[in-house]
Amino acid sequence: MSIVIKNASQILTCSGRDLGIINNGLIYINNGKIYSVKPDSKFRIPNSKTIDAKGCISMPGFIDCHTHLVFAGSRENEFAMRLEGKTYKDILKAGGGILQTVRATRKASENELFKLAQQRIEELIKWGTTTVEIKSGYGLDTKTELKILRVIKKIQQANKDRITIVSTFLGAHAIPAGVNKSDYINTIINKMLPIVAKENLAQFCDVFCENFVFNAKESKKILEAAKSYGLMPKIHADEIESSGGAEIAGAVKAISAEHLLYPSDNGLKAMKKNNVTAVLLPGTTLFLKSKQIPPIDKMRKLGLTIALGSDYNPGTCMIYQMPIIIALGCLLYNLTLTEAIRGVTINSAKSLGLENKIGSIEVGKDADLIILDTPDYKNIPYQFGKNLIKTVIKKGKVVYSK
Ligand code: NIG
Ligand code: FE
Repeated sequence: MSIVIKNASQILTCSGRDLGIINNGLIYINNGKIYSVKPDSKFRIPNSKTIDAKGCISMPGFIDCHTHLVFAGSRENEFAMRLEGKTYKDILKAGGGILQTVRATRKASENELFKLAQQRIEELIKWGTTTVEIKSGYGLDTKTELKILRVIKKIQQANKDRITIVSTFLGAHAIPAGVNKSDYINTIINKMLPIVAKENLAQFCDVFCENFVFNAKESKKILEAAKSYGLMPKIHADEIESSGGAEIAGAVKAISAEHLLYPSDNGLKAMKKNNVTAVLLPGTTLFLKSKQIPPIDKMRKLGLTIALGSDYNPGTCMIYQMPIIIALGCLLYNLTLTEAIRGVTINSAKSLGLENKIGSIEVGKDADLIILDTPDYKNIPYQFGKNLIKTVIKKGKVVYSK
């Protein structure tokens, strides 16, 4: 079955170096792939379903390259505590924060976690996300980390024609209560990683690298072990404090380093040298009321690839709507609209190693596309908070339409 999208006032192909805009063009989808992209809508393609996108724009589906979407419980109390002046670090140190979600997630059955995750996935699809990365990390013991990764695998399979789900093992998300840190690192390396690898439960391994969680040296040790098991490294780097995370990202040749509010200059250079994508998470900056933003100018000057993710999680960012993340990238991080939109499409694809398959509207790529009910892409951040998504197409099939 083929689909033709006609008359879109703008097609944002996101190919090349900018948004690659085509006005009033046509997209011909065949067998789940983009078969051709034409500069006008006159071509007649027999035996195909036509979608008239007059007055609308079409662009690649959003790729959310950083979430912690499988969790139980919620943390509105902690949110309120932060409004009263408590810090994220203090709350975690006092046994709250991530550890609160760990307690709730340990209690939840696999089935309960699956249901919660599936509800969230439905929301993501309605907001135009066609690929999402999900991390474990609210188990912090072998049994629960595996339970979370199995839930990720189940939702991956249950939704395989609707949304692509990429799995990341983040056993090193915090130090579990009552466990000695070096014992826990040994558990991650010698117990969890071998099973995660053997059961093929994750493609990537991430670490929360902070001086007060896993420091640079410990993070490096975990990520090197992960590599030896065939998992590609990612790293939460320099989010709360400057902790040498960006340097480690370079040293282990991570595919991406995330957050990056306080990276050192050498760390950024090491990232550039090793082709590490910078994944920025402005929703978290808003949620944590952080005054600090990533050193965008330095990143631009170095020519780092900048991607944007939501960081959807119960503690530091309940925002999963990628149009809002685009707006926050522009408003909080001073990104241009071109940077922000490339950040959630082609550059986000790169942070997951998927840039040859998705992220732009180019011949041969998967037909993961969205149609937005607005004639100009500038409305995405301008119409803040409004869901403009009209149609979501995944691998050439309509999976949502309003
Ligand atoms: O990316 N920084 C570590 N992980 C998450 C927060 C998780 C939580 O607080 O539950 C983040 O901000
Ligand atoms: Fe995160």
